[in-house]
Amino acid sequence: MRAAVLYEPNTPLKIEEVSLDGPRDGEVLVRVAATGACHSDYHVMNGDWHGPGFECPVVLGHEASGIVERVGAGVSGLKKGDHVILSFVASCGYCSRCSRGQPHLCTSMSGGPGAMYDGSKRLKRGDLVLNHFGSGMSSFAELSCVHPSQCVKVTPDLPLEAAALIGCAVMTGVGAVLNTAKVEPGATMAVFGTGGVGLSVVQGGVLANAGRIIAVDVRANKLQFARGVGATDTINAADADPVEAIKELTGGRGVDYAFDAIGLATVSRQCYDAVCRGGTAVVVGMAPTGQEIPIPATIAGQEKTVKGCFYGSARPPIDFVRLAQFYLSGRLKLDQMVSKKYAFTDINEAFAALARGDNARGVIVL
Ligand SMILES: NC(=O)c1ccc[n+]([C@@H]2O[C@H](COP(=O)([O-])OP(=O)(O)OC[C@H]3O[C@@H](n4cnc5c(N)ncnc54)[C@H](O)[C@@H]3O)[C@@H](O)[C@H]2O)c1
Ligand SMILES: [Zn+2]
Ligand SMILES: [Zn+2]
Repeated sequence: MRAAVLYEPNTPLKIEEVSLDGPRDGEVLVRVAATGACHSDYHVMNGDWHGPGFECPVVLGHEASGIVERVGAGVSGLKKGDHVILSFVASCGYCSRCSRGQPHLCTSMSGGPGAMYDGSKRLKRGDLVLNHFGSGMSSFAELSCVHPSQCVKVTPDLPLEAAALIGCAVMTGVGAVLNTAKVEPGATMAVFGTGGVGLSVVQGGVLANAGRIIAVDVRANKLQFARGVGATDTINAADADPVEAIKELTGGRGVDYAFDAIGLATVSRQCYDAVCRGGTAVVVGMAPTGQEIPIPATIAGQEKTVKGCFYGSARPPIDFVRLAQFYLSGRLKLDQMVSKKYAFTDINEAFAALARGDNARGVIVL
């Protein structure tokens, strides 16, 4: 099969013939239909993230949908031809985190750096072993071999491009609001960064019936996308101090919730400063390796909360299906988010567009 291989940061992905060992017993082989260009892949491509887990050569890709090609012995509930959304975390169902309803934090199936859920590496170019991404899903390839917990079956009525976005940006952004922060109706919120994840945070705000959804970005086109999916106010941080502007819009108080959907320590700090006393700053964006967020010691008297958010605190079998239903009933605007589709051979152009900030989300269609 063909896969897009990253051999070194800051070099183009190369589409090459590679081999994939699988599915083994208890695994699922999926033909990838569509895969999004997410900034988390780009963090590895541009060297923001390095060290164990991000080593080259690697096949990236972790936001995808597909069609089941084959199931290994012992897999029940999935068969050839099923449409699935892939999850970039595998979960066991019985560890301490899974038992608490937090399968996204499963402690027994993280697999290890650059490996599949079980710690093995199955992708090769000739004799050269390639690293995996996303618990092994490595969806910048024609086929992906995953654990069944990484496959959520969805109705074939759901377009596969929209389905792909649910696999990362939408689950993460909407989940940050509904699952992680649990924003209540009427609450005010701000979203810093309105790329794929931030636009999904905005849409999470709409679903939560937030009173005010303030979008912050440095690019005018992104703020326009944000208005299109439900932002009530926009601030261009290239022209104004976003914290001051948020305070101005909220009578000097600040918002109840602020979300960093960029991944910069300075922006996480802006989120902390933009929330009111008792408010919550949610760090969704993932900063370059080694950054630390400076939090003032007055946090006690302010009683603010700083919360991390991984994968929108996803419970894939429940949340993916709910998100698909929201889309099918017209309450989640995914077609507007797929602003451009790319052929697999144009995957580098999809990431150049991400770096320039052209798209709401670019999707590679296989
Ligand atoms: N927590 C998770 O599980 C999770 C999941 C997916 C992605 N992420 C992370 O979320 C972040 C966003 O991902 P994405 O794919 O939406 O990225 P993206 O590149 O599509 O969007 C980022 C947006 O931030 C804007 N921006 C950049 N600097 C800014 C600044 N100083 N002030 C305001 N806006 C600014 C850009 O114009 C862009 O619109 C990344 O760090 C990614 O790794 C986290
Ligand atoms: Zn992602
Ligand atoms: Zn588990």
